[in-house]
Amino acid sequence: MSEPQAPLRILAFAGSLRRNSHNGRLLDTAAQIAPPGMVLTVHDTIADVPLFDEDVEASTPSPDGVTRLRIAVAAADGVLIATPEYNQSLPGVLKNTLDWLSRDDAELGEVLSGKPVAIFGATPGKWGTRLAQSQLRHALAAMGALTMPAPQLYMAEIASSYDAASDTFDAATRKRLLAFLEGFEAWVGKRLGRARAPCSLRLVSGEIQY
Ligand SMILES: Cc1cc2nc3c(=O)[nH]c(=O)nc-3n(C[C@H](O)[C@H](O)[C@H](O)COP(=O)(O)O)c2cc1C
Repeated sequence: MSEPQAPLRILAFAGSLRRNSHNGRLLDTAAQIAPPGMVLTVHDTIADVPLFDEDVEASTPSPDGVTRLRIAVAAADGVLIATPEYNQSLPGVLKNTLDWLSRDDAELGEVLSGKPVAIFGATPGKWGTRLAQSQLRHALAAMGALTMPAPQLYMAEIASSYDAASDTFDAATRKRLLAFLEGFEAWVGKRLGRARAPCSLRLVSGEIQY
């Protein structure tokens, strides 16, 4: 009989510093509903990653917030990023964080190079962060990350699916999120040479269909 496989370790962070971030809340939800084959850990904040500056980078040691995140990324089987959209692009704080992560750490190397990454995003607006995700995908490709091509998840009008009193998203939103996580689990498993996880998704043009 084959040994049971250890769950995939997924490190997640949001491209928002906001306390009541929809994207942060969706990651907390993802950690709660993740499929059994996945342990999803949400990195508490990227607020401790300073503005990228090659002079700071050249001074040792690296800033604590950068080292903390690099270690967490390096230890993970995959990374999940939830991005808001700012001015039809990804937020500056997220791009800044990725610029740090793209650099060669003396001990850890380039932690995103070859790393399986999934992205999604939520906005109160109507377009679901399509433009932000497109540009995030572009930047991740430049740093050698392996970004999951499908399924894709664009969450529009997110405020209407969140209930502050119970601090939960509605069932339809949780279902879409779980389907996305199952797709990520199957895709990362394939990258790592694992058996494909059972998954009942149907994909049409890269998007999840129910
Ligand atoms: C500077 C700025 C620019 C924004 N531009 C966009 C935009 O281009 N498209 C969009 O859908 N929402 C835009 N928004 C609204 C954000 O999607 C919204 O604030 C969202 O809640 C941020 O994500 P969070 O809840 O995870 O913090 C913008 C917000 C700010 C502050």
